[in-house]
Amino acid sequence: MSERHADLWAAARPYMRARKNDVHIPLAYGCAEELLAHHPEADAEVVLQAVLLHDIGWAVVDQQAIYRDGFGPGMWESDVRIAHEREGARLARELLATLGRDPDLVEEVAAIIDGHDTRRHALSRNDELVKDADRLSRFSIAGVSMGCDWFGMTPGEYTDHLAPQVDAHFTDTAARAARRELAHTRRALRVEALAGVPA
Ligand SMILES: [Fe+2]
Ligand SMILES: [Fe+2]
Repeated sequence: MSERHADLWAAARPYMRARKNDVHIPLAYGCAEELLAHHPEADAEVVLQAVLLHDIGWAVVDQQAIYRDGFGPGMWESDVRIAHEREGARLARELLATLGRDPDLVEEVAAIIDGHDTRRHALSRNDELVKDADRLSRFSIAGVSMGCDWFGMTPGEYTDHLAPQVDAHFTDTAARAARRELAHTRRALRVEALAGVPA
């Protein structure tokens, strides 16, 4: 069986090593597939391709600034974060048009990507599922492992930091999945046994 969106995975490959996109994006894509199984009203083609491309802009922004300005206080308003959204939307338009995707789909995917981190509200159900899949991927073991490095926290500290974000998901489906993943990750990483170990 061939991989869904194999042509797009191949086209996005040059942008996949930046900021661990090649771990984050497949995880988020899997989360989107799980959410879509509960949301037949959404357009799976839009949601999955938007998730696949949403962070490719990280590959073409100032790589030092990603780590200098992209985490910690002010991270959501940093220039580099806004640049990754804008560049991601531009690249998504290019890649999808080159692959001959429908112009309406191209525009909807680009609109979702532009502002995907900094826009607090969702544009549509499709956008809600993209945002939820992006967030949900942070609760997995791999997501926590990356977050610990980026924020300088232990798994215990980082999962404590994530816990209030469970209810920040747009859909109940994602909130339930986040709660389940968080419990699984904390058990698997034995955060209670390691409590008190400094970062
Ligand atoms: Fe992003
Ligand atoms: Fe993301």
